[in-house]
Amino acid sequence: MAYSRNRLLTSPTFSDYPFTLGIASGEPVHDGTSARVVLWTRLAPDPLNGGGMPPNDVEVRWEMATDENFTNVVQSGTEIAPAMEAHSVHVAPYGLEPARYYWYRFKVGSEISPVGRTKTAPETGAPLNSMSFAFVSCSDFQEGYFPVYRAIAEEDLDVVFHLGDFIYEYGPDPESTRVSETPAPTDLETYRSTYAEYLLDPDLQAARAMHPWEVIPDDHETYNNFEGAPEDEAQAAAAALAYYMPLRPSASPHAAEGANLLLYRDVNYGDLAHFNMLDTRQYRGEPPDPETEGSPETDDAAITNDMIGQEQEAWLFENLASSGARWNVIGNQIGMFDYTAGSEGDLMGWDDHGYARDRIARFLDDYRPSNPVVITGDLHCSWVSDLKAYYPDENSATVGTEFIGTSITSGLGESYANEYKEHREDNPHVKFFDERTGGYVRVDLTPEEWRTEMKLADTIEDRESPVRTFASFVVEDGQPGAKRA
Ligand SMILES: [Fe+2]
Repeated sequence: MAYSRNRLLTSPTFSDYPFTLGIASGEPVHDGTSARVVLWTRLAPDPLNGGGMPPNDVEVRWEMATDENFTNVVQSGTEIAPAMEAHSVHVAPYGLEPARYYWYRFKVGSEISPVGRTKTAPETGAPLNSMSFAFVSCSDFQEGYFPVYRAIAEEDLDVVFHLGDFIYEYGPDPESTRVSETPAPTDLETYRSTYAEYLLDPDLQAARAMHPWEVIPDDHETYNNFEGAPEDEAQAAAAALAYYMPLRPSASPHAAEGANLLLYRDVNYGDLAHFNMLDTRQYRGEPPDPETEGSPETDDAAITNDMIGQEQEAWLFENLASSGARWNVIGNQIGMFDYTAGSEGDLMGWDDHGYARDRIARFLDDYRPSNPVVITGDLHCSWVSDLKAYYPDENSATVGTEFIGTSITSGLGESYANEYKEHREDNPHVKFFDERTGGYVRVDLTPEEWRTEMKLADTIEDRESPVRTFASFVVEDGQPGAKRA
């Protein structure tokens, strides 16, 4: 049958099952009146070949229930899956009850999606005795399977944070564990194919179906070392549109200007935790010129030496200064602690934008928000570090704690591992380093204690691999810095 571009299809038929990419939820927030969450799916009967959908917009029905058999449906409606958004669906129901599980599903024509489970956030500021979350990063499809996602699907968690490198923009590598069937992405269609290949993975689908996610991209969602450079605007715009996950409506490509998705945002869990999700890619300034580098007080570069941009930095400081939460978490892509002592270059992400890091350190020292903890990805290895008020003086105050989780699959490389190990002694604020890859981090929070469990798969060559805890740490309320547990 011939489709007219403008006609909305209300009961389409498909060449194949349209929910091949699963379902997902994200952005659990409490808006002061009620809880909200975003539900997502994408219709793609032929996911690796452009989706296999007609050029029409399609009407999709959705349902939310308080039980997995949908005997008590509490909300339902229809939403358009627009052709221009590759027939992805973003539903943002509000008026939900705080801190409870909901089940959801989609229907289109005579087809029905898998069932997803999500959990809403508790009321902002209300007393909360505990919460649990996982944080992950760096899931290169070609480097291995995702036993990590399988393990996360089996965990009891409130929310999952993905801190970046959800995809890698690499073309097929015949030497890899599982060779990609999609080309290195350069435009909207090829980025979408890359996401589709990842989302076809059953373990990733299971983890997305079991928990709400908070996601923030790093560089590989666009290309290696992407820093928001204007010369690659078209590619960045394509990458951003293809990224469009279950994000809150204010982060949608429609709400944002040009290619910039508004991705920095905060999330409250009662009075227990306030999460500030940073965007360290889109607003970067130039690193300082080593020739003219001086002190933050005297050097003009201090002003432009941004990692997150002045607006986002002001937003972060305002959030931290006004927070009533016990734990103030910064979700961040790249290593924030200083690791320059003893080395000739910059080893961590924030090291080459040192003034931007210094401003955060001084802010934490001056304002002393309650229990600052930074959670980080990017490095493909595990670290625990004290965050210092002033790194040149190891005796300066410890003002926070950073946990860096290893990659889900992405490799580290021997030269990095050796360089990291070489400078351990010169940086006594660093408490722990482990070079293994293929894991994630679980965090259990109470008002008294932050508990981190670092976990590793036995192997990423086997999707059924067991995943085990290899190191645990606690941070006690009011005492920055981690202790081995
Ligand atoms: Fe990575």
